Amino acid sequence: MKHIAIVTSGGDAPGTNAAIRAAARVAHINGIQVSGVVHGWAGATRDEFIEIDRDTIHGVIEEGGTFLKSERSPILTKEGDAQRVIDGLQKRGVEGVVVIGGEGSHKGALQIANAGFPVVGVPKTIDNDLGGSDFTIGFHTAVETATSAIDRLRTHTESNDRVMVVEVMGRHAGWIATFSGMASGADLILIPEREWSLDSVSQHLTKRHRERGRSFSLIVLAEGAISSQSEIDLTRDARRDHLGRTYLGGLGEALAPRIQERTGFETRSTALGYLLRGGTPDANDRILATRLGTEAAKRLLAGESGVTIGQIGSEVRATRIGDAVAQLKLVSDEDYQLAATFF
Ligand code: F6P
Repeated sequence: MKHIAIVTSGGDAPGTNAAIRAAARVAHINGIQVSGVVHGWAGATRDEFIEIDRDTIHGVIEEGGTFLKSERSPILTKEGDAQRVIDGLQKRGVEGVVVIGGEGSHKGALQIANAGFPVVGVPKTIDNDLGGSDFTIGFHTAVETATSAIDRLRTHTESNDRVMVVEVMGRHAGWIATFSGMASGADLILIPEREWSLDSVSQHLTKRHRERGRSFSLIVLAEGAISSQSEIDLTRDARRDHLGRTYLGGLGEALAPRIQERTGFETRSTALGYLLRGGTPDANDRILATRLGTEAAKRLLAGESGVTIGQIGSEVRATRIGDAVAQLKLVSDEDYQLAATFF
């Protein structure tokens, strides 16, 4: 292999540039040419490439976002797409790809690999819902950002004797909510993995305020934590992505007045949203990205394909992409119960 490409696709996440840097450095050391595909997989079909040399990756480890840019597009959801991407790569003389992305990007990678083109994945999503790695790149920073925002909201909430619903990202899994809630001492955490009802939330708050004498409460809510018993219908407001999947943004805003109505406690909501995807990566994400990006390039150059590189425990390991995307990685009962001990 003489020429590889790096692709970043899906939702941006802090630490992506550090992963690009790591994969590119391994290639440079081995005398391999590196191209960057701009704007995700779709960029390959539009001939959007840049050269990544040693200078390109200088000073990017601390930069948030992705300098290769990203795109959520329906590419690789239709028959023939994989071949179009491969044709675009081959036209440039690219012989293998490192893709840095989440679940959707890895599903795309699987099609490319199945079509016989070498590809190795690196898991990156603030949602941390992709299998094959304990943590995905961007998650640690998102938790850090959410925790510091919740700390700030605490001083407001306490000073005003209010209930605050803090909505964080997490469409299918409540990782950010559980970890930032645990770190900030949240009084309740609502996630997609667990059923909740307006009654259970109201009873919990009433008990805290009336029986335990608390004057304020902080609820951390994952955006996708809609529950069949929540009595909230978001179907009218639901956002949809390019694949027609529903995003449940707006849940916190809908929930706060209902809590106030039921409990009589003044309740407000704040959605942290895209703030969590921004900013410079923390040290954990930089180190994780360096480990995974390095290993991904090494394996690609050694002839492996169809795997994603993750860290499990303290070990860097490869998992078949098919296995990593077979089911979403959800918050364990153990982690949730640990956070719930302090509600
Ligand atoms: O990166 C994952 C995620 O943050 C989800 O939690 C969220 O629902 C989604 O991305 C929104 O992203 P976009 O508007 O870019 O599709």
